[in-house]
Amino acid sequence: GSYGGQYRPQVHFSPPSHFMNDPNGMFRDQNGTWHLYYQYNPTKSVAGNQHWGHATSQDLYHWTNQPIALFPPKKNVYIFSGSAVIDKNNTSGFFGNQSNGVVAIYTLAEYLDDGSPGPQSQAIAYSYDSGFTFTPYDGNPVIPSNSSQFRDPKVVWYEDHWVMVVAYAQEFAIGIFTSPDLIEWTHASNFSNQGLLGLQWECPNLVRMPLYTEDGQRRDDMWTMLISINPGAPVGGSITEYYPGTFNGTHFEAVDSVARIADFGKDNYAGQFFFGVPDEEDPVSIAWASNWQYTQTVPTAQEGWRSAMSLPRRNYLTRIDRVGWKLISSPYDMQPIMGRNLAYNQSLVNGSLTVDFSDIASNAVYWEVNVTGLPKKGIPEMATLNFTLLSPITAEYIRGGYYFGGDNPFYLDRGGAKGFDNVFFTDKLSTNSLFRNGSWSMSGVMDRSILELFLNDGVDSATATFFATQPLTFLIISTSSLPHGTRVSTRVNALKSSW
Ligand code: FRU
Repeated sequence: GSYGGQYRPQVHFSPPSHFMNDPNGMFRDQNGTWHLYYQYNPTKSVAGNQHWGHATSQDLYHWTNQPIALFPPKKNVYIFSGSAVIDKNNTSGFFGNQSNGVVAIYTLAEYLDDGSPGPQSQAIAYSYDSGFTFTPYDGNPVIPSNSSQFRDPKVVWYEDHWVMVVAYAQEFAIGIFTSPDLIEWTHASNFSNQGLLGLQWECPNLVRMPLYTEDGQRRDDMWTMLISINPGAPVGGSITEYYPGTFNGTHFEAVDSVARIADFGKDNYAGQFFFGVPDEEDPVSIAWASNWQYTQTVPTAQEGWRSAMSLPRRNYLTRIDRVGWKLISSPYDMQPIMGRNLAYNQSLVNGSLTVDFSDIASNAVYWEVNVTGLPKKGIPEMATLNFTLLSPITAEYIRGGYYFGGDNPFYLDRGGAKGFDNVFFTDKLSTNSLFRNGSWSMSGVMDRSILELFLNDGVDSATATFFATQPLTFLIISTSSLPHGTRVSTRVNALKSSW
């Protein structure tokens, strides 16, 4: 495809050129086409000059780049993050008899002549052609403000009205507004000062979230607030926090005051949920796979682009023994990119498997490991599972490992990739991943410069970029000191480039 370059992901979205950050305006239209917009600087490989870039997909993996959808309206005013909805019933009055009108809701961010941030206000634009071209509403802004820290409106439909969540970034507050028509907005409540604060709250989402039992039965729906924090993540820079709770159309209440983090990697920020996914299906999200601490210095600029999106993910809530509420997040159906099987092994107990995938042109692979039959007690401290992705040329690597004993820690180490040197590019990340009913699993997607890991089918997940000087083309998976009776199976597949 046209997306060459050693770092350019093959199954993740990245912009045609220059700099991308947050996903914006995501919706699925009535024909089933997925629309992704994104914060886009079409002229430089650093942030600034924000437009909304646009791409469409039938399956969330094969994307077609579309013309830029929203442009800065005048000098020193930019289009910051926001969302989009389908105004099926023409509540806005923009669309006559049309039932597929699209309204984008976004922040107009003004800069003063000295370059300092000026007012941020919320504006809308409408589209008659299902989201390809937009006309800004001539009454903008629909929510004026004098604050330079008021941004990222995300709109959903609740029973009989629109609901917007929007960040008062440096007040650690999410404003909840309601509207009958997307034009007149009423402030209804604030959700504030709970969980981690960091220095700014950004990109809120309010999502109707299905609740599943531990054995996978869908029960009731709950609501979940998600807030992106930057800077101030425990591991540095940008991170996403979530709060399960209840919502009555005007007020959101979290189930408790616990701070919960959505992804234990360092490259999963500003995630957004698609509008237009029916309530019977699980909500679908995409996040920005980078971190403000180092995004503007990563070496992909030598290939003319910076930043990719995470894999599309399906999400739901569950309650897990000893852990409590958990947002489960796993890749959306990967069948469209699943390539040929490279290895299959049903007896990896205390053994090792090496897969040389240097002939796979995409340099992207998927693997999964399923462990069953673990005893409750008596697991040796040295019982581990390890994986390594390796360059046979330079011996650069990224790796991870799981300890079946103790508190079940899992670590990820991207420090063996030598193509990027930055003091904030944390090498080692970890979480605790309890196994249940004697079972534990891991799956992973390695896509040139992005690794995504899913433990226990998405109970824990990590998104981590990495930059080796040479492609990683070997995958080694091994286990050791596992007790008698444990079973381990693994499979490795090539991934097909979607570009
Ligand atoms: C988050 C963010 C948003 C803002 C956008 C600007 O990454 O800072 O708050 O709208 O990026 O590009």
